[in-house]
Amino acid sequence: MVTGLLHLHSSLRYIVLLTLLYAIVKGWQLGKDKVEGKERRPYLIAMIFAHIQLLLGLGLYFMGENGLTALNGLFDTGASLLSSLGFFGIIHFVLMVAAITLITKAHSLAKKNETHRRVVHLMLLALLIILVAIPWPFYGYGRGFFAGM
Ligand code: HEM
Repeated sequence: MVTGLLHLHSSLRYIVLLTLLYAIVKGWQLGKDKVEGKERRPYLIAMIFAHIQLLLGLGLYFMGENGLTALNGLFDTGASLLSSLGFFGIIHFVLMVAAITLITKAHSLAKKNETHRRVVHLMLLALLIILVAIPWPFYGYGRGFFAGM
């Protein structure tokens, strides 16, 4: 089951990134206009995929071998935050939860008919945080572009 979750979590990153990017580009084009009716949909879709990713991530964190177990290992060994233990035990978790909170806040602004510009700013910040917090293969402790690679 954990292996299945890991494969899903790993692949879903691309859908999260694409839906976020799409919402940002669409919102950017509408600029200072207030968010109306169906214009909210791209923000909603980005938020839904981010929340699915959060649930999968929480499953991995508490059931897998690189979440809570990594956090325990970090405290036991005193390893650096920029090690595999530090990254998966703290950094990945904290940054991703922060980014998903921003996406949720952005969607709630869209629901309150704020301007696209304000919504897009939050989404853009979330996208940057997510890009940094993904364990890309070129990080010392990183993973493949797909699980198992
Ligand atoms: C947009 C949000 C997120 C993205 C794009 C993302 C992406 C990823 C990627 C690409 C991996 C590496 C998978 C592999 O080994 O191929 C990973 C691993 C992991 N993620 Fe996330 N993640 C997100 C949010 C979260 C959250 C919120 C949590 C915890 C609550 C979390 C917990 C984990 C854990 C524990 C692993 C290591 C799994 C293992 O190797 O056992 N992730 N994540």
